[in-house]
Amino acid sequence: NRAAALARVEGLIRDIPDFPKPGILFKDITPLLGDAEGFRLSIELLADAIEGPGPEYIVGTESRGFIFGAALAFHLGAGFIPVRKPGKLPADVHSCEYQLEYGTDALEVHRDALHRGARTLIVDDLLATGGTARATGDLLRRLGAELLGYSFVIELTFLNARQQMTDAPVMSLIRY
Ligand code: PRP
Ligand code: MG
Repeated sequence: NRAAALARVEGLIRDIPDFPKPGILFKDITPLLGDAEGFRLSIELLADAIEGPGPEYIVGTESRGFIFGAALAFHLGAGFIPVRKPGKLPADVHSCEYQLEYGTDALEVHRDALHRGARTLIVDDLLATGGTARATGDLLRRLGAELLGYSFVIELTFLNARQQMTDAPVMSLIRY
């Protein structure tokens, strides 16, 4: 059942203190990825949380969003669209800058990645400040996509990212 599956997934997420910097408690998903049943359960839980007509495309953000996003796309029979760090995509791109703790970074998507009105779902491993997810959402808006929602394996609720993501429903499996 769902509660047992969630407990199994949560038990495979490892806390790493002081990574990447002192005072940060890093949520490490590599034990989850390495556990065949746990990884499969995480994808099934993400799929089960989708309501209504399914997405035509899963949009995953480099790089951890590729792992869950591509697996979910395969599971659903949807296409996968990579949103990448600058300079990686070869054709014409839209680019969106977003804030980091210090400075800015950017994300890019191919301008011809999808047709206008395509049903899309953004998937990533983690919702922290929401900067990454909001930038990905902005890119989809510029493509004219329909954004069905944002799905995450983990949400750090104390950062209150969800409150600034009013354009589409936000779903997370595990909240800290
Ligand atoms: C991590 C994580 C999310 C993002 C969440 O990615 O995979 O994409 O941070 O943080 P935010 O909500 O504050 O934007 P990171 O940029 O560390 O890169 P990676 O996926 O390549 O490891
Ligand atoms: Mg990431």
